Amino acid sequence: MNGKFPCTWYPIGFSAELAKKPLKKKMVGRDVVLFRNKDGAAQAVYAYCPHRGADLSLGCVRDGKLTCAYHGWEFNGEGSCLHIPSQPDKPVPKFAHTEHYPVMERAGLLWIYPDSNIPPDSLPPLQLFEELENQEYVLAPYESFWKAHFTRVVESVLDVVHLSFVHKDSSVHLDD
Ligand code: FES
Repeated sequence: MNGKFPCTWYPIGFSAELAKKPLKKKMVGRDVVLFRNKDGAAQAVYAYCPHRGADLSLGCVRDGKLTCAYHGWEFNGEGSCLHIPSQPDKPVPKFAHTEHYPVMERAGLLWIYPDSNIPPDSLPPLQLFEELENQEYVLAPYESFWKAHFTRVVESVLDVVHLSFVHKDSSVHLDD
């Protein structure tokens, strides 16, 4: 984790996006792959296989385990390799382990915490605006890629006054 981003819960995608296939996302500059375990719980691991570096999102989920497309190594939600098809009777080597990250689902979103070493009982609570979980409100999915630090994006979106000055073609004009 670099110092450019605060360590906190980040919404990384919509729960509905995560079905049977692994889902690749970028979290504070790091590629991660999400998948669902046997119980349907969302899991997140570092995106590249500790064996030869293949992109784990190109693999599949088999019996709740993330399976690498290159040589079929199978990983659980803790990032541990449980099975190597080419040597099924040998112990799994120590290096066959990738980082995993805490994930939770709330308000129809996948939330991830970017510290792979934090003990579960030290995780801070996820605090949400209550409207996010109020069924009388609708969460409207919207995605856009901005080439900017996310704090600039949040700041800009909250600053509606600048619209009529900077985006003159927008429909918001203070003097209307
Ligand atoms: S690169 Fe993933 S199993 Fe070989």
